[in-house]
Amino acid sequence: MRRIAISVALSTMTLSLAGCGVLNATGDGASASPTKGDDITVGLLLPEKANTRYDKFDYPIIKNKVAELTKKQGKVEYANADASATRQSEQLQNMIDAKVDVILLDAVDAHAVADGVKKAKDAGIPVIAYDRLAEGPIDAYISFDNELVGEVQGRTLLEALGSGVDTSDKVVMMNGSPTDPNAKQFKEGALSELNGKVDIAASYDTTKWKPEVAEANMAEAIAKIGKNNIAAVYSANDGMAGGVIKALKAAGVTDLPPITGQDAELDAVQRVVAGEQYMSVYKSYPDEAEAAAQMAVTKIQGKDIQFDALTQDRVDSPTAKDIPARLVQVSALTKHSIKDTVIADGIYTAGEICTAKYKAACAAIGLK
Ligand code: GAL
Repeated sequence: MRRIAISVALSTMTLSLAGCGVLNATGDGASASPTKGDDITVGLLLPEKANTRYDKFDYPIIKNKVAELTKKQGKVEYANADASATRQSEQLQNMIDAKVDVILLDAVDAHAVADGVKKAKDAGIPVIAYDRLAEGPIDAYISFDNELVGEVQGRTLLEALGSGVDTSDKVVMMNGSPTDPNAKQFKEGALSELNGKVDIAASYDTTKWKPEVAEANMAEAIAKIGKNNIAAVYSANDGMAGGVIKALKAAGVTDLPPITGQDAELDAVQRVVAGEQYMSVYKSYPDEAEAAAQMAVTKIQGKDIQFDALTQDRVDSPTAKDIPARLVQVSALTKHSIKDTVIADGIYTAGEICTAKYKAACAAIGLK
């Protein structure tokens, strides 16, 4: 009888401690932060607005998934740095001051943000690097396989050049921002396909991924190489591909060379339909963003088994080794794969892509 009374008392205590959030009920006991319930706040820091993916897909998908996982009690505090590393470090500090429970960080400058990551860590707030591998003591990383992105771009570019591809074919490379570690991986992946097959006649890194910077660099490349001597342009993303095309048109090029891209932005998909841009890379934003939301919520709630299952890959950053990670696959988007990628995943409808201007080109590839 006495034994029963003691065990009831103990279990009541356990329950009430768990209810106060004092006890790590489902964690492994080694975790510093107490287990939380559904009333949680995820801080989301995204890097820029020029690329539409962040406001249009990443943020809303993460917000909806957090709501779904927390019976609509959890919220997402969102800030976009508009390509400014200084603004992002202020936004990160604001999240620390507001005592959010976990931070998803897509860095403008992966190196410069390391101090802020350390401050968050010191304040007991886990940081998960989102899409770009931030330096500093991050808890985990979720992204696409970024080396594969570059490989897919390089391979598809070679395909476009066809069997007659020659080592004297001049290719211009428009790489991404030097402060974004993904840009380096895209470049390495692409070069692993292109080196020894074509002549990289000019190569640029692009400040802040700005389309207008790519446009100016392309004008310079055209002046150097000659407008009729450019066999293809490797552009690391769609925004810059837009700038490249503007520069080529301004120089009077009517028969555009194959141009690559990334992100499957709506205007780029339309350019692919129209034959102005050869390809883009389709990255499933739901796959990345929903996994990020799950990682954030399971981290806060101390659901270590689920968290580990979500982060089976391992990566190294310049400051940390063996970071638990999840790398999502990507695929090429060309005229022939629009249906199986963006349309199949419900990113765009055929109606959104095939506006009046693109009706005929859409019909020619069976899109309606
Ligand atoms: C990369 C990201 C791409 C694209 C690019 C420009 O880091 O992986 O999807 O958004 O930045 O913003």
